[in-house]
Amino acid sequence: MEAFLEEARTLLAELVALPTVSAEGRALAEGAAKVAEVLEGLGLEAALHEGYGPPVVFAQGGVGERTLLLYNHYDVQPPDPLELWESPPFSPTVREGRLYARGASDDKGQLFAHLLAAEGAPVNLKFLVEGEEEVGSPHLLPFVRANRERLAADLVLVSDGAMVAPHTPTLTYGLRGLCYLEVRLLGARRDLHSGAFGGVAPNPIQALGWLLARLKDERTGRVLIPGFYEKVRPVPEEEKALWPEPDEEALRRELGVEVLPGEEGYTALERLWARPTLDPNGVWGGYQGEGSKTVIPAEAGMKLSMRLVPDQDPEEVAERAEAYLREVCPPGYRLEVRRLHGGRPFLTDPFSPPMRLMARALEEVWGRPPVYAREGGTIPVVAELKEALSAPVVLLGLGLPDDNLHAPNEKLDLVNLERGTAAIRRFYELLAAPSGR
Ligand code: BES
Ligand code: MN
Ligand code: MN
Repeated sequence: MEAFLEEARTLLAELVALPTVSAEGRALAEGAAKVAEVLEGLGLEAALHEGYGPPVVFAQGGVGERTLLLYNHYDVQPPDPLELWESPPFSPTVREGRLYARGASDDKGQLFAHLLAAEGAPVNLKFLVEGEEEVGSPHLLPFVRANRERLAADLVLVSDGAMVAPHTPTLTYGLRGLCYLEVRLLGARRDLHSGAFGGVAPNPIQALGWLLARLKDERTGRVLIPGFYEKVRPVPEEEKALWPEPDEEALRRELGVEVLPGEEGYTALERLWARPTLDPNGVWGGYQGEGSKTVIPAEAGMKLSMRLVPDQDPEEVAERAEAYLREVCPPGYRLEVRRLHGGRPFLTDPFSPPMRLMARALEEVWGRPPVYAREGGTIPVVAELKEALSAPVVLLGLGLPDDNLHAPNEKLDLVNLERGTAAIRRFYELLAAPSGR
């Protein structure tokens, strides 16, 4: 185990040391080159595909009759606020069996489980490693559509998520989708003295408040956009029976809150995994500096994310949201809506043949059967891969809920890298065995 960790640590440390922040376009070519280099080192044939945003790394190699497509991303979220990191985000540090660095869990560490398991695998492997997942994969979707044959596989394996708890191997069979809007409200042609013009001037911050209040019902927590829930599928009772016991008290404690506000009539788990949401992610407008400034701003705005579930469609939700915002926008204001990234929701059969094989591999390695879970987060390309390749998808998350994804002090428990790698190796053996077909 020590030798294994040493090998993984050195290469992984080199990769997480690169600040591959897709939102800022930083170090992406270096990140792609590094991934390709490790893949070549494993004896795979790797190539960088340009012209689709940050380079797409594609590699293949291996033996046997079965072919897997492995998906990961080498880009990461911005590391700020920097002052809250105990060790700098791009100076990987191991403390108490955990690797601390931006990307340690999301998703470079999980990519490494795939890389480490590739050595001597008895199957054909195709690696698809992208550099713009954290900004919504806008170019990867066309890449997938244009490269169906190159990517063709018997199944897709994705490690870019989390186990529901430590020592609890988890198979994920659903992801939420995403529709993200930027909304701007414009009033007068310029900022105005709040005394000289207060009483006659439109105030976009006030109007933004009115607008926000009409998006979600305060009592029921329901989103008020007409038709928002139209395509939402109810969760069958048999499916809920698969879910782990929800511990809402533990969640309250972890978040440091007394209530878990959300849509009336659903458990917290159902609200996280199988119900759509709407959340303002940022608001701005007016004076935010020290002390007071008497001003009526000319503009205010917000970023709005909506997490979607099957069978909601991001484009359609964006249409509906925009139409509703225009309808409820108070008169006298100009409304501008920009569509930022989106991603389709994903749901698959938790008991497909490859899922069953992975369940076996997980049980052998962890000594306990996996838990079946959906995720509240989004991986935009997954729904596309399932459809474009007509292949079953296995989502094996190797992170943990307290990995601090997108936050300061992101980490990966190295034991999960080790066990994850062992489970994937075992999965390959089972797949290659005659009974695995
Ligand atoms: N790996 C995450 C998605 C995720 C988060 C899966 C938590 C399981 C548990 C992924 O890198 C991510 O952050 N996705 C973004 C997508 C967006 C930027 C289009 C998300 O969900 O916000
Ligand atoms: Mn990720
Ligand atoms: Mn992420």
